Amino acid sequence: MSDTARLTIERRDESGAVKPESFEVPFEPGQSVLDGLRWIRVHKDPTLAFRYSCLNANACKECMMEVDGEVVYACLARLEPREIRVAPLSNKPLVRDLVTEIAPPAERLHGKKRP
Ligand code: FES
Repeated sequence: MSDTARLTIERRDESGAVKPESFEVPFEPGQSVLDGLRWIRVHKDPTLAFRYSCLNANACKECMMEVDGEVVYACLARLEPREIRVAPLSNKPLVRDLVTEIAPPAERLHGKKRP
């Protein structure tokens, strides 16, 4: 069994064109996809954008993204020693990398002016 996971992340360049990037991540059983993304941000690319708040309590719901084409919570999706494709939610406006606008419009900071 390989001790490496390969995360291929759907990112976009300045023009908005999809530009997948692959990262080799050390694999240990029990890790989540979110653990792999955090490893990439610490060791390979500090600019990689994704959201999370609770790590694995499944409480914040901020880590939603698409893993191998399915909408999942990255903190619950298991990392595996194979290639895993990671993409932002396809039905939400993209902010950057794996971050999408998930707050309802009325709750966004720029959504309403105060009286
Ligand atoms: S990090 Fe909070 S639900 Fe995944």
